[in-house]
Amino acid sequence: MVGLNSAALNVAAAWHDAECGSYRGDLPLWLELADRFGSDGALDLGCGTGRVALALATEGHSVTALDSDGDLIAALAKRAESAGVHVEGIVADARDFSLDRRFGLVLAPMQVAQLLGGSAGRARMIESIAAHLVPGGLAAIALAGPVDDAGECVSIALGGAHLVPDVLECGGVRFVSTPVAMRDTAPGLWIERRRELQRDGAKTTVELTSLLLERCPPSELEEAGQRVGLEPGDRLMIPETDDHVGSIAVVLGKPS
Ligand SMILES: C[S@@+](CC[C@H](N)C(=O)[O-])C[C@H]1O[C@@H](n2cnc3c(N)ncnc32)[C@H](O)[C@@H]1O
Repeated sequence: MVGLNSAALNVAAAWHDAECGSYRGDLPLWLELADRFGSDGALDLGCGTGRVALALATEGHSVTALDSDGDLIAALAKRAESAGVHVEGIVADARDFSLDRRFGLVLAPMQVAQLLGGSAGRARMIESIAAHLVPGGLAAIALAGPVDDAGECVSIALGGAHLVPDVLECGGVRFVSTPVAMRDTAPGLWIERRRELQRDGAKTTVELTSLLLERCPPSELEEAGQRVGLEPGDRLMIPETDDHVGSIAVVLGKPS
């Protein structure tokens, strides 16, 4: 068994970074939206270790970052300090949060909206978003998967090309996360990963994890937005990269 006895090693953050941290394909879109709508501040929902929040803060935007995982928020706080930027980190549930301020832009990047326990969870997130947008503000919610001509996510099967290990070296430990199976089911795509730690040549399979990437048509988010007074805008496309499927961003505006 590989020992992980370094107090400085944030294991949850390392796995998160190994599996999500290298993605850059969506950053131009979030930066463009922050330039247009972020003057009243941006809120990053399901921020993880701050991949998006730190990119926006580095460009001078005022960013609040929310995640339900306190270890990830702790990693984000350290990184913001090292980078000399300020990001307010909040541990809360994206489906039910109450902050004492409003924002010009609320983002839910990557697959955050597909991890919320179904349409009821997504509707609650959108209700919370509506309560935190300034008039004229905008929410953009990403959904992973190939998109057809009509802009619907036709399937979220990621394909064999994506079954390659994600690897991160951190604190003398190698974190190797390999997708080993994907099952397309009615509620969504089950992704099973083998997470393996390696240190000093020792190798231990520590766990098998599985995650449901929920199926969600963009129209579901748009209708949920309309029910709480938000107006759907044109959907935005995030092109696929060599390592990641493309995404669609559903846009919901709060009337001025
Ligand atoms: C795929 S990661 C994306 C991280 C980050 N948004 C990014 O783009 O790099 C999903 C994130 O959503 C967070 N998350 C999942 N369910 C959540 C919830 N109910 N409330 C807040 N955060 C949640 C997870 O902890 C994780 O950090």
